[in-house]
Amino acid sequence: TKHLLGIKDLNREDIQLILSTAEQFKEVLQRPVKKVPSLRDVTIVNLFYENSTRTRMSFELAERRLSADVLNFAASSSSSAKGETLLDTVNNILSMKVDMVVMRHSASGAPHFLAKHIPAAIVNAGDGINEHPTQALLDAYSMQEKMGKLEGLKVAIIGDIMHSRVALSNMYLLKKMGAEIMVAGPPTLIPKYISEALGVRVEYNLKKALQWCDVANVLRIQLERQNQPLFSSLREYNLAYGIKRKMLEDLGKEIVIMHPGPINRGVELDSDVADGPYSIILNQVENGVAVRMAVLYLLVDREN
Ligand code: CP
Repeated sequence: TKHLLGIKDLNREDIQLILSTAEQFKEVLQRPVKKVPSLRDVTIVNLFYENSTRTRMSFELAERRLSADVLNFAASSSSSAKGETLLDTVNNILSMKVDMVVMRHSASGAPHFLAKHIPAAIVNAGDGINEHPTQALLDAYSMQEKMGKLEGLKVAIIGDIMHSRVALSNMYLLKKMGAEIMVAGPPTLIPKYISEALGVRVEYNLKKALQWCDVANVLRIQLERQNQPLFSSLREYNLAYGIKRKMLEDLGKEIVIMHPGPINRGVELDSDVADGPYSIILNQVENGVAVRMAVLYLLVDREN
């Protein structure tokens, strides 16, 4: 059984294949009839143990556009709340002849654990602070679409690197595709075990990071994953690391601003940056559907 557990497991050719397949699906999504019959006999469950807006909606739409049958599971309204284990939950769902599991979980490694115990294909939709592979793929797709390349592109990933599965998946992917990578933010949110292990540049000064990069992928401060605050207040974070419109105008060069969402407006991004001409944030969301269609299509295709 094939899975998509993380970008770590993919090679350059796998990533290129997903991105070029996504390009074909993006073309399909521009047509008046957006539905194709590719996964007509496939049933997929979206198993979400953590909150989500974009990823869950995007997977569901991708599945429906591919004509799959779709089941949605939200842990908070399920029998998990009565103590049912992850494995019991999934085995019960699979006994209803479900073929694939799209899964988000707060525990890093939860989809890897499941992959060892169940026969169905698993797509990781975000596991703890480990990986969010489809986010990195849609980010790469959006960068390539906007800038025409990934090779040699200078990408700064800015903010809460420590708690970000988006940062880790982006770093794995961009490294494999030959981009130059910088992580930027407060030292307390950039652990050396990440920057040194992956051999990426580190910058603690926001303006210098913005001057260096072609693309800034800005992350949300994940207060829900911090046992103790790693800076004194959101206001202080905004003063040191919040991106303001004037800052970008003063650079005197082109720069692209990305963010995986949800945005903490007025913390890591001011509204006139998030909604302004430098931002491709909603393009990222649009591209997510085509990228997830490509991932699901390729996983099923390889199985048959
Ligand atoms: N980007 C992202 O994963 O957003 P959601 O948490 O809303 O799915």
